[in-house]
Formats: sequence, structure tokens, C-alpha cells
Amino acid sequence: MPPKARIVGTGHYLPPLVRTNADLAKMVDTSDDWIQERTGIRERRIAPPEICTSDMAAAAAESALKMAGLTAKDLDMIIVGTVTGDMPMPATAVFVQQKLGAVNIPSFDISAACAGFIYGLSIADNFIRAGAMKHILVIGVELLSRVIDWEDRGTCVLFGDGAGAVIVGPADSTPVERPRGILSTKIMSDGSLARSLMIPGGGSVTPASKEVIDEKLHKVKMKGQDIFKAAVKNLYSASRDAVEEAGMRPDDVDWICPHQANLRIINQAVERLGVPKEKVLVNIDKVGNTSSASIPILLDQSLRAGTIKEGQTVLMCALGAGISWGSALIRV
Ligand code: UT7
Repeated sequence: MPPKARIVGTGHYLPPLVRTNADLAKMVDTSDDWIQERTGIRERRIAPPEICTSDMAAAAAESALKMAGLTAKDLDMIIVGTVTGDMPMPATAVFVQQKLGAVNIPSFDISAACAGFIYGLSIADNFIRAGAMKHILVIGVELLSRVIDWEDRGTCVLFGDGAGAVIVGPADSTPVERPRGILSTKIMSDGSLARSLMIPGGGSVTPASKEVIDEKLHKVKMKGQDIFKAAVKNLYSASRDAVEEAGMRPDDVDWICPHQANLRIINQAVERLGVPKEKVLVNIDKVGNTSSASIPILLDQSLRAGTIKEGQTVLMCALGAGISWGSALIRV
């Protein structure tokens, strides 16, 4: 099936404050060597107190709109992938809508953690494929530093803050041999691993209370090895499926733009796919794991740097809490 939708603009925002591994070694029992060797991370960005999630999302969106040559008035829908929104209610997407000045369009959040951007991209592709909409803003944004337990060395060294955005618009209508656009998307979840990565307090199971705060149930809890194993397996299978659906082989892909959770996860999944490491885009050393923001940040950086060139194919894949995962193959 020829692509109906195409990414016509990208943007990202990273807060200016850098927190290095050396900074963390002063806060918890860890070291630069351990963090680099086990994750590939050297530093991450932290948002200052005056910045909230929708501020970062709106900044990334403004940049994507500019690249697309569009304004907020051209948007038909806003989808925000986030698990660290401005508030439990309403959706962060409506704050983004208000900050951008977009009116009377559907705006909603997706709670698919690190896979939130891929979920949003898949939904946008399907709305445009159905002919229901023309331009959809898809954002991945996280302000994880506000939900991290900064005394838990098992999680606090991993995460960072940031936002990435894309504008999905119509693909070129003239038939060509190698059409640009979203070639395939896959999204999936397995709730049997739901408790491997969660923020257990503050919802209907354990509503906010003094005990929730005292026991730090409002902070991220993770069984790292469970997620690690599931990530390698499912990132491999979702990537293979997205490529096969487009009638290609993994090695035909020009670039892999994977979720930046751990360099060892990326390397193992890519090795199973049989794709050389030279084709893998990486920025985890500079930004850490920014969850749903990680792929659109890396995509935007790689496009603006000229690393990804027009006509090339890019395979994106992500897995996180849920567990939820997904993949998308595009030709830019
Ligand atoms: O975005 C998607 C969601 N998240 C992920 O994809 C993360 C997936 N998981 C991972 O990336 C890895 O499991 C981690 C990086 C979180 C942990 O690496 P690991 O190789 O699985 O380490 P481990 O949990 O097996 O711990 C090994 C040792 C333990 O010490 P003992 O029991 O062997 O004495 C930990 O206590 O490393 C210790 N450790 C640390 N040491 C220094 C754990 N965290 C740290 C730390 N610094 N920050």
C-alpha cells in the first residue's frame, strides 16, 4: 500500500541544565564508569522548576511547525505521548493547544510511556490514511526528573527531560518508485508485565495521601532486568515486522532511530536484526532516557544535522512501561 502520510516537519526542545554522571555520583552510590558501562549515558538534561511539560512540548511543536511551513491554525489534531503530564487531569495536549493558539481541534494524551510517540505516529498515520485529517501534531514529551526518586541509584541515573515533535501531513500524491512517507507502523502491549515499571501511587488503586508521599509511591519503580529482556525481544520482532510489511529486509533500511533507554538494549536488538552498528543513530550519551521524547528528539537532531538525507528510510522502535512497544518505518 503506498504511503498516505508523511512527516513534514520536526522539532525538539531540551532544557539547558546538564546533570552529569559525576553530579549523580555526589548524590547516590554510583560512578561515571558504572553508568557509562551499563547504559552508555554520560549526561542528561533537567528542566528548571519554572518549566512544565506543556512548555517543553509547545517549544518542540513551534520548531516542527516552522520546519513544515505551517502555523497552529493549520493543525487538525494534537496528540501528546507522555506519562509526566502537567496534571492528572486535563490532558497535557490541551495546554499545548492553548499555548500554540490552535482552536477547536481534538487534543489528547496517550499513556504508552516510552512507546507514546510511536503510538501517536501510528494513530496520526491512520487518521490521514482514512482521509479524515490533513495535518496532525504528534509530540513525545517527558519531565521525568519530577517523578524520579533521586535516592534510588537503580533509576535516577537513567532518565532525563525533553520534548520532540513532528507534523504529520499528506504524502506526495504523484506515484513514484520509492515514495516518501510513513511506510508501516506496529503497536503492541503486554499487561502481564505492567508492574515491572510503574508509578504505583496517586491513582485509583492508591490515591494520593501522606503515606503515598512518605513511602515514595509517587515515584518511578522499575524491575530493570525484566524490562531489559522484554525490550531486546520485542524491539527486534516489532522492527522486523514493520520492515517486512513494507516489503523490505532489515538491512535495506538506511537508519535505525531507536528509543534511547540503554545502549546495551539497542546493540543487542540491532545485532539480532542483522543491521550494522554504523546505521544506528544514538544520542543517549547526551540526553539519557527521555521516554516518549527520545525518538522524536533524535530524529529531529539527525535530520537537522544532515545525517538522515531525503529519500532515506528510517526505522524507529521503542518499548517501555505497560509494557507497550511499537515500530514505524518511514522514508523521509
Ligand atoms: O525506557 C524503557 C524502560 N527502561 C529500560 O529500558 C531500562 C531497562 N533496564 C536497564 O537498562 C538495566 O537493567 C539497568 C541499567 C537499569 C540496570 O543494569 P543491570 O545490568 O540490569 O544491573 P542490575 O540491576 O542487575 O544490577 C547489578 C548491580 C547490582 O549490585 P549487586 O546486587 O550485584 O551488588 C545493583 O545494585 O549493579 C548495582 N547497581 C548500581 N551500581 C552502581 C544498580 N544501579 C547502580 C548504579 N550504580 N547506578
